[in-house]
Amino acid sequence: MNKTLKKLLFLLDPEQAHDVALHSLNLAYRLRLTTLIAKTAAPYPCTVMGMTFPNSIGLAAGLDKNADYVDALASLGFGFIEVGTVTPQPQAGNPRPRLFRLAKQEAIINRMGFNNKGVAHVAQQLARVRYRGILGINIGKNKDTPLERAVDDYLFCFQQLWPYASYITINISSPNTAGLRNLQQSELLRELLITLKNARQAVYEQQQKYVPLVVKISPDMTEEEAHGLAAILLEQHIDGVIATNTTTTREGVAEEQIAQESGGLSGKPLQARSTRTIQWLAGQLQGRIPIIGCGGIIDAASAKEKRDAGASLLQIYTGLIYRGPGLVRELVDSLVDSSVAV
Ligand code: FNR
Repeated sequence: MNKTLKKLLFLLDPEQAHDVALHSLNLAYRLRLTTLIAKTAAPYPCTVMGMTFPNSIGLAAGLDKNADYVDALASLGFGFIEVGTVTPQPQAGNPRPRLFRLAKQEAIINRMGFNNKGVAHVAQQLARVRYRGILGINIGKNKDTPLERAVDDYLFCFQQLWPYASYITINISSPNTAGLRNLQQSELLRELLITLKNARQAVYEQQQKYVPLVVKISPDMTEEEAHGLAAILLEQHIDGVIATNTTTTREGVAEEQIAQESGGLSGKPLQARSTRTIQWLAGQLQGRIPIIGCGGIIDAASAKEKRDAGASLLQIYTGLIYRGPGLVRELVDSLVDSSVAV
């Protein structure tokens, strides 16, 4: 990324910088200038979950929660884009400030709290995007919905959004919605997955469209918990798993003042923890369910680490903030260069 532009953005409050960066990207896209920001990488296709991805580097959820920037983001060369987390009703999220940079560690702490414009807005946006590539939609529950009724929220999101989705991600791992991670417990998870699979089956019977279901998990599980979760994913024949979301630990940043802020930590300090979770899962899943690796991918080496741990696809978020849009091409090129097929 243009260093001056990055310096300017980093002078702004992090959330303001986020908005300015996305608006600028959108403008650049409309002016057909995005090829100057990030030259498109050579295709490096791979087939996962029955779909052929032009390359295995995806955009992680949370950057484009409302599907407002899909075309502009896609022009950066991603192999797939995930929008959301979207909830049934619009909600404001937590009060600001809720996004904090730890520049030295190339990390972010966020407690956004699923701020989003709701399912109706996302559906409207997706109905008019030009992008025809692979699009994941990440769904969650509203803050006010009690955990016992969380299933209803996920079901509603699925029913409203499946027409636009290449796959649907069930987010049960954000640390910023109270109690959400409890849905990773076996009985609640089983109920949630069965409900969504039934809805998916109904869609398949009526519309002959199969919508893969992907579960996004936390990096804060023990090995035993990860194994238990993998067993349920296998039992329920889930199509994919994203490992991982942000961590509530402060490994690698504990000495920083900002580390006292509550929320999920992402970026470089999350790298090892999310890779470890992938290894635990891979050991149990034995290739029967593909893993989408996410957490601290900031360069070719960290991308390779995730693939070596067992990830078939990768997603980035914080790396994009610190390394700029050129990271997409750098990562794709590194896949092409390495002889390891993903
Ligand atoms: C996120 N992430 C996220 N994940 C998700 O499933 N739904 C969401 O709404 C969000 N929102 C969000 C906001 C912000 C500001 C950040 C930094 C992250 C988590 C993200 O998708 C990813 O799983 C983690 O950030 C780990 O990857 P990186 O950032 O280390 O590459």
